[in-house]
Amino acid sequence: MYPSHRPRRLRRNPAVRRLVSETSVQPRHLVLPMFVREGIDEPAPIPSMPGVVQHTRDSLRAAAAEAVEAGVGGLMLFGVPAERDATGSGAVDPDGVLNAALRDLSADLGDDAVLMADLCLDEFTDHGHCGVLRPDGTVDNDRTLQLYGEMGVVQAQSGAHVVGPSGMMDGQVGVIRESLDATGFADTAILAYSAKYASAFYGPFRDAVDSQLQGDRKTYQQDPANGREALREADLDLAEGADMVMVKPIMSYLDVLRDVAGVADVPVAGYQVSGEYAMIEAAAANGWLDRERTVLESLTSIRRAGADVILTYWAAEAARWLRGGD
Ligand code: PBG
Repeated sequence: MYPSHRPRRLRRNPAVRRLVSETSVQPRHLVLPMFVREGIDEPAPIPSMPGVVQHTRDSLRAAAAEAVEAGVGGLMLFGVPAERDATGSGAVDPDGVLNAALRDLSADLGDDAVLMADLCLDEFTDHGHCGVLRPDGTVDNDRTLQLYGEMGVVQAQSGAHVVGPSGMMDGQVGVIRESLDATGFADTAILAYSAKYASAFYGPFRDAVDSQLQGDRKTYQQDPANGREALREADLDLAEGADMVMVKPIMSYLDVLRDVAGVADVPVAGYQVSGEYAMIEAAAANGWLDRERTVLESLTSIRRAGADVILTYWAAEAARWLRGGD
């Protein structure tokens, strides 16, 4: 009798499919990125990210509590300051919006969820770059490192359990680790954005943080054409003391995720970025995709490719869908 091999046997009903399912997504795997903006009275919708807002400090607290209630594993905070300058001084000001919001959430949530902070200057600089500039307009790697070191300490003092350096400066993880250790924050972890690509998929995020950037970040973020380089970046970050490494964006970089997950001996995260969110939301709004099924399929693929942790703007909602699942 032909065929003698019948893989369909293991697909014939929900019970057998459930038994042999290889990959699961659980609320604890999901981290919700959130934006907090200084100087607004009401949450401000982000047009290119329907359903995502720039929070006030108060609305952030409420939304964070809801996400934690839904079971997410963590929150990643981004700050949008009212004023910017050349060195991004709002980033290292303990009363800057991001640090103040970290204190709020730390007080509210304690250790109920992992509190993470984006560690980068781009939201705070008036030129929108991730570091400080030399007179000729190029990004000064080593002067930026000093500021990242300070920023990490202030974030840790404000209650961040994990800092997430996302600026792609060489040596950033090592400098931040040293600064944290030297100031009594040896227990604050570093989630390194190891392989962060110069991607068009960040488009909507630039609205979300009112980015001032002219030009691009190609002198520091990676070329989408390069895979091997991601392994080198991850190796360097691990050697400098990264506790977790991340690949970003993710859906067009699942091969990179798979490769990094194959060599990293720490947890690996993937960041499903603003443009990935916007694409699915736009198609769903048109009735072209089934929103919930598409979102869950995308999260499952990211886990299947090797992510332990997923940063996604759907984290809280997906956690609610998944609750009760295994
Ligand atoms: C930089 C940063 C960016 C994102 C997270 N951290 C933007 C950039 O590099 O231009 C993008 C996140 C997203 O698109 O969802 N601080």
